[in-house]
Amino acid sequence: MEKNSKIAVLGGSGLLGSAVKKVLNKQGFESIHSPRSSEIDLLEKSRIEDYLEAERPENIFMVAGLVGGILGNNTRPADFLYQNSMMILNLLEGIRKFSPKSKLLFTGSTCIYPKENPQPINEDRFMCGKLEETNKGYAVAKGLGIVACQLYRKQHGLDTICAMPTNMYGLNDTYDLENGHMIPGLIKKFLVAKRDNGKVTLWGSGNPRREALYSEDCANALVYLMENYSSEKIVNIGTGYDYSIKEIAEIIKGETGGECKIEWDSSRPDGTFEKRTDIFRLKEIYSEFNPRSLKEGVREILDNKREVERILQD
Ligand SMILES: NC(=O)c1ccc[n+]([C@@H]2O[C@H](COP(=O)([O-])OP(=O)(O)OC[C@H]3O[C@@H](n4cnc5c(N)ncnc54)[C@H](OP(=O)(O)O)[C@@H]3O)[C@@H](O)[C@H]2O)c1
Repeated sequence: MEKNSKIAVLGGSGLLGSAVKKVLNKQGFESIHSPRSSEIDLLEKSRIEDYLEAERPENIFMVAGLVGGILGNNTRPADFLYQNSMMILNLLEGIRKFSPKSKLLFTGSTCIYPKENPQPINEDRFMCGKLEETNKGYAVAKGLGIVACQLYRKQHGLDTICAMPTNMYGLNDTYDLENGHMIPGLIKKFLVAKRDNGKVTLWGSGNPRREALYSEDCANALVYLMENYSSEKIVNIGTGYDYSIKEIAEIIKGETGGECKIEWDSSRPDGTFEKRTDIFRLKEIYSEFNPRSLKEGVREILDNKREVERILQD
């Protein structure tokens, strides 16, 4: 990528997209276009085609998607399947027809992997078993996106690459307790408990283990892959390290500075016990990749006054 290359960040208002724009800006890229869905709805084929015909961006970061936590995925599985499938299919067709020289980076998710896996989970596990029932629609759509990128690469010679980020958190996250992800949810619960002198109730035993990737670290990897990688092989983006949910809760409690009591509601399910990504392939491509610890990431969020105000208002 040249510093004046035309770069499109689709989904640039979201958690990951805003971090991609930040990294591109920091690295001196000058021509970044990031339309909102109100301007270019990726579900509208003609809108994306008109855009690609007019702009022909050299690099496209596809970080748009319908994203949510267990509740959203479980109650609206068909929406997650349909929207995430159509967005990537419309985009690939548009690129094929109007901008075949564009390089596309598609973000999937580690949800594409089967429910049961040897740990850590490596990329060859894709399509090797039954999916987790609660996010099946989202996972099938992301899997379809990968296969579509591979087939458009094979048949039409498009330069498509696919990255699979693990659980993320960071600035500009969604702090909706019903529809958001685990780490932003915990940050909000501990901040609210501190403000209200309350307690925090968490589901399950606290023993399952989870990875936590700061969005800007993921964005660094995506920009690096865009510049240095071209292959049909998908690439995991994780930290390679996991924490028990108890440890995650204690880290967040410690960083928020609250004294609140944590109660574990063991009548609630634990979910998958372990889900840690193998980042061997990523490290082979990008040996300097060095994601921050959860403690460092949470501190960055809490040091940002505007983000904390937003968390407490959301
Ligand atoms: N968050 C995670 O933990 C996680 C983990 C693994 C993978 N991922 C993947 O990473 C990507 C980014 O996730 P995120 O957490 O940053 O999502 P997010 O914060 O919810 O942001 C979603 C983005 O998608 C855009 N979008 C949604 N529907 C659209 C449409 N019909 N047309 C155009 N744009 C549309 C939104 O644009 P507007 O705001 O303009 O509507 C927004 O910028 C997604 O592909 C997701 O599957 C996320």
